[in-house]
Amino acid sequence: MKIMVVGGGGREHAIIKSIKKNKNVKEIFALPGNGGMAEDATLVPIGAKDIPAIVEFALKEKIDYAVVAPDDPLVLGCVDALEKVGIPSFGPRANAAIIEGSKVFSKNLMKKYGIPTAAYEVFDNAAAALEYVDSCPIPTVIKADGLALGKGVIIATDRDMAKDAVHSIMEDKKFGESGNNIVIEEFLEGPEVSVLAFTDGKCVRPMVSSMDHKRALDNDMGLNTGGMGTVAPNPYYTEAIAEECMERIFLPTIKAMCAEGREFRGCLYFGLMLTKDGPKVIEYNCRFGDPETQVVLPLLESDLLEIMMATSSGNLEKCEVKFASRNACCVIMASKGYPEAYEKGYEIVMDESVKDSVFVAGASIKDERLLTAGGRVLGVTAVEDSLGEAIESAYRKVECVRFENAYYRRDIGAKAMAALGGKN
Ligand code: AMP
Ligand code: GLY
Repeated sequence: MKIMVVGGGGREHAIIKSIKKNKNVKEIFALPGNGGMAEDATLVPIGAKDIPAIVEFALKEKIDYAVVAPDDPLVLGCVDALEKVGIPSFGPRANAAIIEGSKVFSKNLMKKYGIPTAAYEVFDNAAAALEYVDSCPIPTVIKADGLALGKGVIIATDRDMAKDAVHSIMEDKKFGESGNNIVIEEFLEGPEVSVLAFTDGKCVRPMVSSMDHKRALDNDMGLNTGGMGTVAPNPYYTEAIAEECMERIFLPTIKAMCAEGREFRGCLYFGLMLTKDGPKVIEYNCRFGDPETQVVLPLLESDLLEIMMATSSGNLEKCEVKFASRNACCVIMASKGYPEAYEKGYEIVMDESVKDSVFVAGASIKDERLLTAGGRVLGVTAVEDSLGEAIESAYRKVECVRFENAYYRRDIGAKAMAALGGKN
């Protein structure tokens, strides 16, 4: 089979490495991929948002199956366009990807179908939003409606900050058209859990839970990033909580999307907060998370490609989705300065022994040398029997990867270890 993966980060590298294990796979193309995946996929210089070029390439190469991984092409209708020319694809159509593409849509969906989430108000003009933040409870959370590279959420700890957020999103258009509408919502507290789930629109198969570390610096300080590391499973996510989430969140969401005529097929990401009033949805993503995928897929024992194909053909019920009862830890190595300004172009050198554990997010190849080319450069994942061992092993592997200006958090998994009472 000829497979095509749209996207170019660490998540896509993890997906490609997992798909490669299927014996029927002859060739994998990455559009555009990045230099760090060149040993696992054929790189094709087509941007993930260039849908006409993606479709043309898929037809020319007679691609058997496509995986569309990032949010932008999904929201723009990449799966619709590929299906239209007869290429089966993994990922939701645009009318379902809206669950991530519009926070106003997802909040209204949850309200209509009684799915637990933070209380909220929607505003389409700055004056009304400013009046609201004059008297709303503080802290408050302000979110741009549309996609904003994961940066469209501001937690305002005082009224001036809330007003600044309204001005910058709605008036200065910090996130462009994504800020035409905003959601202002109740500030929730509790441990966060990421749950990715395969769904074919009827059946939902949650993957092993995980914990992201979004802030740039140790002890959850510094700016929000795309994610600086992950562990799986997430110790806060007990079996009882998983059952409650299935009944009150996962199944109701899948049914709600069907009832709206927006059947969701692909990977639905539930960003959950375990509050004292029970689990609540913080956000939905219409795709695999990054870097959650880098800990979840290495624990998958079943065949990823078979699951993906069953998901898109509506046959997930018959498919085995099994995870190892082990633990994984992924440490992201970034360029110093990320998520703000950083330098690139430094050579990446790694020991042969860790190559299989590395998922490259931002690198290019020049004269056969691998060079840093992004903020998040790569993720190093270890899988072990206990969380403690997985963390230790991941950091040992990090020592085997070298590039100038490398920065990484030293405390990935520390919170999860504390939740286990440090006994794992
Ligand atoms: P997002 O970009 O939507 O993933 O949100 C970024 C982060 O903001 C989340 O991971 C949460 O830590 C935090 N967040 C979002 N909404 C809320 C909320 N209603 N209450 C507290 N924290 C929130
Ligand atoms: N790690 C969070 C995300 O993928 O949005």
